[in-house]
Amino acid sequence: MMQRAAHTALHEWSNIVRPAMVRQCLQCRVPVLHLSSRAYSVVPPPRDSEEKAMLDRMLRVDHAGEYGANRIYAGQMAVLGRSRTGPLIQEMWDQEKKHLEKFNEILSENRVRPTALLPLWNIAGFVLGASSALLGKEGAMACTVAVEESISEHYNSQIRTLMEKDPERYTELLQVIKEFRDDELEHHDTGLEHDAETVPGYWFLKNAIQLGCKAAIYVSERV
Ligand SMILES: [Fe+2]
Ligand SMILES: [Fe+2]
Repeated sequence: MMQRAAHTALHEWSNIVRPAMVRQCLQCRVPVLHLSSRAYSVVPPPRDSEEKAMLDRMLRVDHAGEYGANRIYAGQMAVLGRSRTGPLIQEMWDQEKKHLEKFNEILSENRVRPTALLPLWNIAGFVLGASSALLGKEGAMACTVAVEESISEHYNSQIRTLMEKDPERYTELLQVIKEFRDDELEHHDTGLEHDAETVPGYWFLKNAIQLGCKAAIYVSERV
């Protein structure tokens, strides 16, 4: 009886704890609280100043990227919000809002300061989004393809780095980054499916935007 009660209590706990702390019950396969030493969220407490610097840099640039992506979609919506493409852009924007929210949370939990360049990404992102949308739906989609390809490549390189260092130690962070990478790839594919490549000067536009993304990533890791 007592054992049953304890068992049930554990199950109830599983409703309020993070997914990473939940494992399956070996007897009945219901998710239960996993009491392990890993009571941190997403990012492990850094072992030394070197690891702290690496994680800070990664989290800072990821946060900057998601912030910029939000501003790009805001700019696109300002121009195309009332058009037939509006709901499609809004859908992608809503996912970016979740990404940004997650990185806001991770940054504050780990006392990582955001990049000092947020005010710049605020304006630059919006201008990029709005001006690409002024070329029409195809322009907005070309911008999406370019940006999302850059962001997903960036996430892939972070995944490689973390896997090489210690996949076990960074399990939760890897999970977040992989999930977001998959969302960005979906946005990229959505752009292609909605005629991104038909905008005049597609190749030039895409390359110019991606050059900008590379520069933004480079400085956001450092400033
Ligand atoms: Fe994102
Ligand atoms: Fe995205």
